[in-house]
Amino acid sequence: FSAFLTDTFGRRHSYLRISVTEKCNFRCQYCMPEEGIKLSPRAELLSTEEILTLARLFVQEGVNKIRLTGGEPLIRPDVLDIIAKMREFEGLKTIAVTTNGLNLARLLPGLQKAGLDLLNISLDSLVPAKFEFIVRRKGFHKVMDGIRKAIEMGYNPVKVNCVVMRGLNEDEIQNFVALTKNMPLEVRFIEYMPFDGNRWNFKKMVSYQEMLDHIKQEWPNLERLPGAEADTVKLYKVPGFQGQIGFITSMSDNFCGSCNRLRITADGNLKVCLFGNSEVSLRDQLRSGATDEELLQVIAAAVGRKKKQHAGMFSISQMKNRPMILIGG
Ligand code: GTP
Ligand code: 5AD
Ligand code: SF4
Repeated sequence: FSAFLTDTFGRRHSYLRISVTEKCNFRCQYCMPEEGIKLSPRAELLSTEEILTLARLFVQEGVNKIRLTGGEPLIRPDVLDIIAKMREFEGLKTIAVTTNGLNLARLLPGLQKAGLDLLNISLDSLVPAKFEFIVRRKGFHKVMDGIRKAIEMGYNPVKVNCVVMRGLNEDEIQNFVALTKNMPLEVRFIEYMPFDGNRWNFKKMVSYQEMLDHIKQEWPNLERLPGAEADTVKLYKVPGFQGQIGFITSMSDNFCGSCNRLRITADGNLKVCLFGNSEVSLRDQLRSGATDEELLQVIAAAVGRKKKQHAGMFSISQMKNRPMILIGG
């Protein structure tokens, strides 16, 4: 595995998340302020060619999984083209997308044809009015159609992301678990994380332990499933249910020790940790004509500065970071 992508703790970064747009057709409360955010001028965003050049370089060095994020990645007009071109990269095993699902039903045939392997879809409430309150837009039924269609087209498991917030959707946890009875979903309950502009506070966060206790009241025989080493998710299943559930416990029990992820923002910065604000511009390197070797030196230096783990729940809630919409998760 490439030394350029290995950090000082021996973590090999084989998973790259690329944000392909800063735009979104929702305004989720946990992701951005109501008024939206200031978008970067178009010229500062990576072009399709630049995205593919960087992706190809990372794949040459050992990245085997790329996830496209945003903003909402399916808004980018040429997203199918990007996926189809990446599909030709030798060594890239998995191409994934994390989407809000709004345009998914319509785009699924094209996505599958282009070669998309994995789909994660955000869904924070099963009550239409509450869903629309959280995302501050209409669209509950379109998202549900997208989820059903993804299952029909053979995506398995379809991962559903539910950010749990106290006083908002914590009362729906059981209903989300029940959804896995007859649907091959992996519903992931995510601890609410702090980002600029999302007004996080400790009291709004529902911890893994609390969620688990709550679920076990109804399903005491909940079973823990084994997971892959670099998984962010702790997986469980109610025996007999088709699907499974998971917990993403970034706040109460981080998984930084096995982190294998790097990120490229839509404006071309390499971000070595979701909660690390030291970024380096790969776009500027590309545009000043850097060779692959020079780019790799810049990447390796950033990877080399990656911390052992994030600074802890309270420190990260105080630090300056990007708003989530400009990171992509
Ligand atoms: P896969 O494991 O590839 O399915 O992806 P994922 O679950 O990591 O990706 P997704 O985009 O669906 O994100 C789900 C949640 O995990 C979001 O809240 C992300 O912010 C969070 N997440 C993704 N990667 C990381 C990470 O490296 N660190 C932390 N702390 N959280 C992450
Ligand atoms: N805390 C936890 N998860 C979040 N996401 C967005 N903002 C937050 C936050 N503040 C999740 C969404 C989306 C994924 C990319 O990140 O559920 O599915
Ligand atoms: Fe990796 Fe940073 Fe997430 Fe920890 S917080 S798992 S180091 S990206």
